[in-house]
Amino acid sequence: MTTGHDGETLTAAIAAVLSVTGAVDKADATRRLHLAYRAGQYPVRGQTRPPDRPARPARPVLLPPRDMPKRRRAGTDATRIALIHAVAHIELNAIDLALDLVARFATPEMPEAFIADWLKVADDESRHFLMLQDRLQALDATYGDLPAHDGLWEAAMATSGDILARIAVAHMVLEARGLDVTPAMIARFTRLGDAETARVLKVIYDDEITHVATASDWFTRLTGLSGPARDRRWQELVRQGFRGRLKPPFNAVARRAAGMEPGMYEPLAGE
Ligand SMILES: [Fe+2]
Ligand SMILES: [Fe+2]
Repeated sequence: MTTGHDGETLTAAIAAVLSVTGAVDKADATRRLHLAYRAGQYPVRGQTRPPDRPARPARPVLLPPRDMPKRRRAGTDATRIALIHAVAHIELNAIDLALDLVARFATPEMPEAFIADWLKVADDESRHFLMLQDRLQALDATYGDLPAHDGLWEAAMATSGDILARIAVAHMVLEARGLDVTPAMIARFTRLGDAETARVLKVIYDDEITHVATASDWFTRLTGLSGPARDRRWQELVRQGFRGRLKPPFNAVARRAAGMEPGMYEPLAGE
C-alpha cells in the first residue's frame, strides 16, 4: 500500500482513535489522523460504528455533577490548576464529540466538507487539550489529578440518534456556552498574573467561535431552513434534547460572529 494505512477506512481509523485510552495519546492520534486525512490517505469512508463510550484514562475519576467536590480557596496555584483541569476535561470531551460526530453520521450521502470541517474541529480540540496539559505541567500537575464529571458526554449522547439534535445540543448549546464563560476566565488568569494561561485561553476562545460557526452552518445546510423557521426548528430540538434552560448572560457578540442571533436562543433562557 502506498498510503501506509493498509486500506483502513476513515470510520475504522476514527473508531480506533476513540478507543485510545491515554488523553495525551488520544490528542496526538487525532492530530495524526487529521494530517493523514488531509494528505488523502483515507479515500474510503467505510461503515465502522464509533464505540458507545470512547476509551478514557483511569484518572480522572468521573463523578456525577452533584458529587463534584466544592472548590476551596486554597491559594492561587490550586485555583489555577482546578480551572485549567476543568477546561482540559471539556477539551478531551470535545475531541471525542467531534470524532464521534464524523464516524456516526458520515454516511455515503454526506458531503466531503462535513468530514473535513469536523475533523478540523477535532484537531483544534486536540491542540487545545495539549496546550492546557502543558499549562498543568508548568504547575506540577497533570490531567487526571482532579476528579471530573461526565455531564457533558451524557448530555451529548442523549442526541446520538439524530444529527440535527446532536449539532443543536452538543455544539450550539454546550459548545456555545464556552463563548459565554471564557472571557471572564481570561480576565481571571490575567488578574492572577498568569499571562501564559490567559493567552492559551484566548487562542481557544477564537477557535471556539469558528466551531460554533461550523455547527451553525451545518445546521442550516442540513435543515435547509433559514430565518425564523430555522430558529424554531433549533428551539424545538433543544427543548426535546436538552434538560433545563440556557444560562444567561450570553456573549451576544461572539454568538453573532458564529451565526447565532439572540432571537434564536433568548427564548430558551432561564435563571
Ligand atoms: Fe476546544
Ligand atoms: Fe470546540
